[in-house]
Amino acid sequence: MKKIRKAVFPVAGLGTRFLPATKALPKEMLTVVDKPVIQYVVNEAREAGIEHLIFVTGRNKSAIEDHFDVQVELYETLSRRGRTEILERLEAMQPEPGQVSYTRQQVPLGLGHAVWCARELVGDEPFALLLPDMIMQSETGCMKQMVELYEQTGGNILAVEECDPTETHKYGIVGRGKDAYTGFEITAMVEKPEPEDAPSNFYINGRYILQPEIFALLENQETGAGGEIQITDAMLRLHATQPFYAHIFTGNTFDCGSPEGFIKANLALALDSPQLKPHVLRFMRSFLNQE
Ligand code: UTP
Repeated sequence: MKKIRKAVFPVAGLGTRFLPATKALPKEMLTVVDKPVIQYVVNEAREAGIEHLIFVTGRNKSAIEDHFDVQVELYETLSRRGRTEILERLEAMQPEPGQVSYTRQQVPLGLGHAVWCARELVGDEPFALLLPDMIMQSETGCMKQMVELYEQTGGNILAVEECDPTETHKYGIVGRGKDAYTGFEITAMVEKPEPEDAPSNFYINGRYILQPEIFALLENQETGAGGEIQITDAMLRLHATQPFYAHIFTGNTFDCGSPEGFIKANLALALDSPQLKPHVLRFMRSFLNQE
């Protein structure tokens, strides 16, 4: 079985739900507590053993490349000033030379199309796909848990969670088959079904392990829901020839592409920090008492 070495981060979307914040700044660079959203997602991938990061970027996204680049003057200044603690943190986040690749999605035609743009960089091996605006909070990272499942089952793996059954039209929904390790065999996949057409209330939460055969299917993919080239439609076709398994993720998921999810992520992760927690709690208590 081939190891999962590469991860794709599609960062070419327009981020319309978060305008005007995202007019000039990529949503993946919005700060949650003390780091950009994308750093949390990259950390999750690296914890899972990913060696190579592939970003599918678009216009206005150069801040992401700068974030993962070495800033020689900054590092020298911090070193001269004896700021070793922050310098070490920055260096720990820094990918090794040659560990990051960038490609452009020239027109934002949908997530499936963005993934297809990474085909030459991924090559003929299974890969991880992480939606870079979703932060997952859990003891062991979601992608690491998925890699562990993959080592048992092979095939394709999707992380799933339960949604309110009336809200299936917001998500990609899977059908539940026989139990398998930390999840189940997937029997169906539908993009944004109305509740009466949904095969379950388990939604795909933004983490995938996919086999490279997905690229050939994306190549001649028609547009689907929302007029976009959908990854779910290509996965459904791949499902005809390859097994798909769901990993049931039980941590917290924050959709930082929307103001609501972003605020929740900031609160939850601030409360997870021993330094910040007492300050945030004190402020919230006094603030709520004024209401
Ligand atoms: P979203 O639909 O959440 O992102 O796509 P968006 O289009 O940027 O956001 P809104 O809805 O306008 O606010 C899921 C992920 O797929 C990427 C996005 O960057 C996001 O991380 N994506 C989407 C692309 O890279 N290219 C696309 O054409 C569409």
